[in-house]
Amino acid sequence: MPVLPDIHDGRILVLDFGSQYTRLIARRVREAGVYSEIRSFDISEDALSSFGPRGIVLSGGPDSVTGGRDGLPIPEAVFRAGVPVLGICYGMQAMAARFGGAVDSAEAREFGMAEVRARGHSDLLRGIDDRTGPGGEGLLDVWMSHGDRVTALPDGFRTIASSPNAPIAGIAHPGRQLYGLQFHPEVAHTRQGSAILGRFVNGICDCPPVWTPANIVEESVASIRTRVGEAGRVLLALSGGVDSSVAAALLHRAIGDRVTGIFVDNGLLRRGEGDEVMEALARGQGVRVRRVEAAPRFLAALRGVEDPERKRTLIGNLFIEIFEEEAERAGGASFLAQGTIYPDVIESARADTGKADVIKSHHNVGGLPERMRLSLVEPLRELFKDEVRAVGLELGLPRDLVFRHPFPGPGLAVRVLGEVREDRLERLRAADAIFLEELRRAGWYDRVAQAFAVFLPVRSVGVMGDQRRHEPVVVLRAVETADFMTARAARLPWELLETVSTRIVNEVPGISRVGVDVSSKPPATIEWE
Ligand code: XMP
Repeated sequence: MPVLPDIHDGRILVLDFGSQYTRLIARRVREAGVYSEIRSFDISEDALSSFGPRGIVLSGGPDSVTGGRDGLPIPEAVFRAGVPVLGICYGMQAMAARFGGAVDSAEAREFGMAEVRARGHSDLLRGIDDRTGPGGEGLLDVWMSHGDRVTALPDGFRTIASSPNAPIAGIAHPGRQLYGLQFHPEVAHTRQGSAILGRFVNGICDCPPVWTPANIVEESVASIRTRVGEAGRVLLALSGGVDSSVAAALLHRAIGDRVTGIFVDNGLLRRGEGDEVMEALARGQGVRVRRVEAAPRFLAALRGVEDPERKRTLIGNLFIEIFEEEAERAGGASFLAQGTIYPDVIESARADTGKADVIKSHHNVGGLPERMRLSLVEPLRELFKDEVRAVGLELGLPRDLVFRHPFPGPGLAVRVLGEVREDRLERLRAADAIFLEELRRAGWYDRVAQAFAVFLPVRSVGVMGDQRRHEPVVVLRAVETADFMTARAARLPWELLETVSTRIVNEVPGISRVGVDVSSKPPATIEWE
């Protein structure tokens, strides 16, 4: 058997100084085939050495080391680790300040595209450019976003890049393998950004590109087998979304019939969704799935409830109750698998510090493992969403399932505003199905991150034939976003919206009018409740 490469070999540590782009850095490193993790800037020496990075990237951030301010400090352990370090934006400024250079507030803040001249043939930028300048030097189009800049080099450092507004736009201390870039290589606008980060991690840090979907699958399968043992049985709650479906396929590859998926049809799913999930997982992948028809129980619990958070709690609790009943029926499991992914891990680390406000209580199957005395298995815990999708394709899951838009745990209950009733759900399902069908037909489904219809329990007057109608309204919501933390309304073609609106009013009895939601997040959220 070929020896499996260690996919965590050559790992890169990304220290977060509060940049909005920190996650992007970690993702770009992984796109270069190298495992990376994000940790807070104040990581302890022990944590740093037990992580054992082969290179460290310092993110940007809102802090400043000018005017006598210290800013967030870079831990000394970073420089004691003896591995290459790349500081980006604030990371570069803090490094320059640490080694005795000068940093000042720039006369003009610089946000947006800039042309940078690569100088000095550094290891980091050699041979990477968008164009060649008049003197034979490399020119790069880069994304800048800074108020401060380095104005004097620390001892032993050289300038490796300059722009008109930032004469010291890149620095290097070749002997110690310390590098800094004022611009943001992690942002897609920096066209050679991936090449530069690739050079740092694959070249300078010498990390081989082994973090690939095929290797991730192999490694996960092996580690699930080790964790679960020869005879262990695993239960998995299937939601119909990408994450739990990929987890199911992975577990099935690892332990076959010893995983049982439990799919609770709560009556709050989109049209046809329950059948599609069963089809893909049970028939397509051979995963054993129990489908529990629980719609009447959920609807009974939701009767008369209008408050969104109350709906979420009721649904979460009832889900746990049903899951427990079914788990008992399935018998003998000692593990519970969850589709937790890396952004959830990062979010909860931030929530632990008390800095993140709870805007909406997103529920997983929290509380279950302790109550049921089950050990947790989280096979996707290290993966970003796009990596989960790549693994799903690698495992042979259908594209439709893999690229499905995310769907909230409480389902349509948070898309029927106010009281959830079957007649409202039915109208919403019909309108939503028309919207998604037309989006797919027009090639827009994959161009937006999430799209759905919302049912408003207000009544509006309309006229159809000669008849006056006084009926509820549906709103269409489609957003573009990379991380779901911020989003903007997708600019769907007007003709498409018109087609959807006409079809909904004509085909869905009991809807008099269709609106379009153009709000961004923030200040709005993606869901209406
Ligand atoms: P918001 O509405 O908070 O949504 O902007 C951000 C993303 O989270 C999804 N969402 C939920 N997912 N349980 C979930 O599992 C929930 O209660 C929940 N509420 C919102 C939403 O669909 C979007 O993708």
